[in-house]
Amino acid sequence: MTDRITITKPDDWHLHVRDGAMLKASLPFTAKHFGRAIVMPNLLPPVLKVKDGEAYRDRVIAALPEGSTFKPLMTCYLTDDTDPDEIETGFREGVFTAVKMYPANATTNSAHGVTDFQKIRRVLARMEKIGMSFLMHGEEADPAIDVFDREAVFIERRLEPMTRDFPGLRMVLEHLSSREGVQFVRDHAPQMGGTITPYHLMLTRTDWLGYGNRPYMYCMPVIKRREDRDALRKAATSGASCYFLGTDSAPHPVTRKLNVVGAAGLFNSPVAIESYAQVFAEENALDKLEAFASLNGPKHYRLPPNAETITLERQTWTAPEDIRVDGEERALVHRGGEKISWKVTAH
Ligand code: NCD
Ligand code: ZN
Repeated sequence: MTDRITITKPDDWHLHVRDGAMLKASLPFTAKHFGRAIVMPNLLPPVLKVKDGEAYRDRVIAALPEGSTFKPLMTCYLTDDTDPDEIETGFREGVFTAVKMYPANATTNSAHGVTDFQKIRRVLARMEKIGMSFLMHGEEADPAIDVFDREAVFIERRLEPMTRDFPGLRMVLEHLSSREGVQFVRDHAPQMGGTITPYHLMLTRTDWLGYGNRPYMYCMPVIKRREDRDALRKAATSGASCYFLGTDSAPHPVTRKLNVVGAAGLFNSPVAIESYAQVFAEENALDKLEAFASLNGPKHYRLPPNAETITLERQTWTAPEDIRVDGEERALVHRGGEKISWKVTAH
């Protein structure tokens, strides 16, 4: 049994760090173990223009602990009215690494998202031409669609036609949550990549709803069946280069998580790489962790892997229940209070 593993320093290809006090409180957990992260643009108001991306990047860098070499990779929030020239300028100036598409009202802070997929065709054509990645919250937000089927229906209605119409467009289906998502990405690689979160690899909807309602497990896309989780575990640990690490760590103040209408999103960066290591160890696939965490993502984004390494060891520690954000405000930590069986012991 392997008890110690050294891998190329990982990157997080899907991360929310918010702004202000929450940014300051949450970012250090990612910066500690990850080289880079794709930073999500769903702020209020969202990151729409090149100048918004630059200003947000500067705030992220200012919130880094001293001496950190962590690099944020910024994204632009796609709306029906996004101008292809704005996207291209942001990409050429090195401000935007990718564009993020939220279907309107599919998740947290997505009210400005896409309502009409015809309207974004010019942007997609431009991205295809300049080689810029298109990141998707892949869920159909039509109220007639059952929440557990949103990913599968998005694939059928939206994604399948997009892959045909824009065969040269690099795409990432974010936070894969279903067997259908896993299969679609595999069938459309290398055009398509998919990120997988630690919580979709570990939880089932029975964990979430079967033993009392656990609102802190509520996220979008919602946690699905055991069969879906097992397909995700198989995909992540397969070594196939179309699957890569994206935590979707998404902190919210605890009062918003536990509200009558609770906010979707799990704050997992304090236990992220350790949780992935646990899953890979359980699947007897620790030898595939480096590909998933540190090599497949850079390959998809056509970036070099990080030069540094990190070492993980089988060692038990207890995750903090929550973190202090500002004054009395706190954010619950995914797996908070649980015994974590892997620990980062060297950088
Ligand atoms: C994310 C958030 O809180 O911003 N929430 C979530 O449930 N994953 C948004 C997202 O990625 O859908
Ligand atoms: Zn997200």
